[in-house]
Amino acid sequence: MSRKVIIAGNWKMNKTAAEAKSLVEALKPLVADVCPNKADIVVCPTFTSLAAVADAVKGSNIKLGCQNIHWAASGAFTGEISAAMLKEIGVEYVIIGHSERRQYFGETDESVNKRLKTALAEGFKPIVCIGEMLADREGGKTEQVLEQQLAGGLAGVTKADAAKIVLAYEPVWAIGTGKTATPAMAQETHAFIRSFLNRTFGTEVGETIRIQYGGSMKAENAAELVAEKDIDGGLIGGAALKADSFAALVKNAIGNAL
Ligand code: PGA
Repeated sequence: MSRKVIIAGNWKMNKTAAEAKSLVEALKPLVADVCPNKADIVVCPTFTSLAAVADAVKGSNIKLGCQNIHWAASGAFTGEISAAMLKEIGVEYVIIGHSERRQYFGETDESVNKRLKTALAEGFKPIVCIGEMLADREGGKTEQVLEQQLAGGLAGVTKADAAKIVLAYEPVWAIGTGKTATPAMAQETHAFIRSFLNRTFGTEVGETIRIQYGGSMKAENAAELVAEKDIDGGLIGGAALKADSFAALVKNAIGNAL
């Protein structure tokens, strides 16, 4: 089964709107030769930069994503953002349940599930993040934790909707630390996630769902990670904040995609 590579830059709480615009303007020519049939390239700026970046990526092969979505259509939810607000700007992808949201802002599998269902109902392409903490891995609990996040986060999702989801496996101990899971270690975990997806949605859907790796992925290690059977791209933090490092990462990843 060949799945199209997807590389998404998660800019987190970095870049003002002006800085975000310069970054994407610098990125455009560097990835202009990447065929859209070979890879999806996504950038996910902060909310205040979405409009400027939406404008800048028009007509290019770079797609727009954001970092959160609320499940309600509107109302008293200070600090949150609705589907209609994101849609109006032209957002296509939505990161849901990033480990920083889970660790610092009380995101749970239940809230991830609610955000996911709204994103799907509103026609977005969700990027659902899962991943174990260092203590989980050291305690031999990685699979148990991932199974729980998958079962809770994807509860009640239909087969047809599951096919629209991208999963991001991000071991929390590898995020922003420079410690990457080895390709073999990451592949083993991706295969476990794939088996959950196949069991839950059937192989005809499970085999089509793209699973990104995230956690200190950079130009230097992208090729060997994406060469693994079940690693279909990456969710990139630090290395997405510079145009040249992100473009190099995209190209290395595609070069070695299965
Ligand atoms: P990193 O972040 O590439 O800086 O480790 C990845 C992420 O958190 O999505």
